[in-house]
Amino acid sequence: MIPELSNPSVCMRDPQRVEEILQSMVKAGSNTVQVIADFDMTLTRFAYKGKRCPTCHNILDNSNLISNECREELKVLLDTYYPIEIDSARSIAEKLPLMVEWWTKAHKILVQQKIRKDRLAMAVRDSDAMLREGYQLLFDHLQEHSIPLLIFSAGIGDILEEVIRQAGVFHSNVKVFSNYMDFDESGLLKAFKGELIHIYNKREGALLNTGHFQELRTRPNVLLLGDSLGDLTMADGVQDMENILKIGFLNDKVEERKQSYLDSYDIVLVQDETLEVPNAIMLHLT
Ligand code: C5P
Ligand code: MG
Repeated sequence: MIPELSNPSVCMRDPQRVEEILQSMVKAGSNTVQVIADFDMTLTRFAYKGKRCPTCHNILDNSNLISNECREELKVLLDTYYPIEIDSARSIAEKLPLMVEWWTKAHKILVQQKIRKDRLAMAVRDSDAMLREGYQLLFDHLQEHSIPLLIFSAGIGDILEEVIRQAGVFHSNVKVFSNYMDFDESGLLKAFKGELIHIYNKREGALLNTGHFQELRTRPNVLLLGDSLGDLTMADGVQDMENILKIGFLNDKVEERKQSYLDSYDIVLVQDETLEVPNAIMLHLT
């Protein structure tokens, strides 16, 4: 077994099963493997030195691209809906309409702010966003081995891309599927493009994109990285799936949510701010 799987942050419902999946994936070869990852709080850190790190949306919420009044409104939304997002006492069915409400309200407020496209890079630079420790190895190694990395995010595509561009890891093997901003001719935000992606409709998005991303058809072995139970369906667009290893970051409300994460993710990483385990698995597969 991979030594990092004995790290204190690692919990597994069935270590034997994990071993079998890994063996089967090694046998299939790295040219059949793809990585499908969520972005916020999966590739990025949840906290650093005891302080919460921002999501894509929070990067804008905390920036000076929006008015104080708008910031207040977005904060009220965050304080209202984030506790619902992580509430283990409510079912996904119950949470889904509320999540749609959160995203819809937040995007409506953002669109009223005349956000300038040419200011996004600065907002990201001035933010506390951080990719998880070990990101360089993950991104560089996947690129070197021509393994596609599909980032599937309910965050904001333009912001997410800027985070990885500024970190110097937006390589050609990275494909992003997310909510993208639509700007008018003068470069002011006028809307968000296409269908809204929120944390509970990644399955629909995945299925819509089977034609889009060639990798989904040709690489039947998947390493899935997520932090929400909604992320579990990100690979549903993969055709003729052979093996999938699901790794879930459990960042918040650990005790309440641990059992449900163990039931659905093969490997659960409890309050682990690093990519040490995914990296060890990736090195094992290549
Ligand atoms: O990249 P990912 O799919 O994880 O992005 C979704 C995250 O964005 C959610 O977990 C949610 O907490 C966060 N969010 C936010 N502000 C919003 C909407 C979502 O911080 N207005
Ligand atoms: Mg996430």
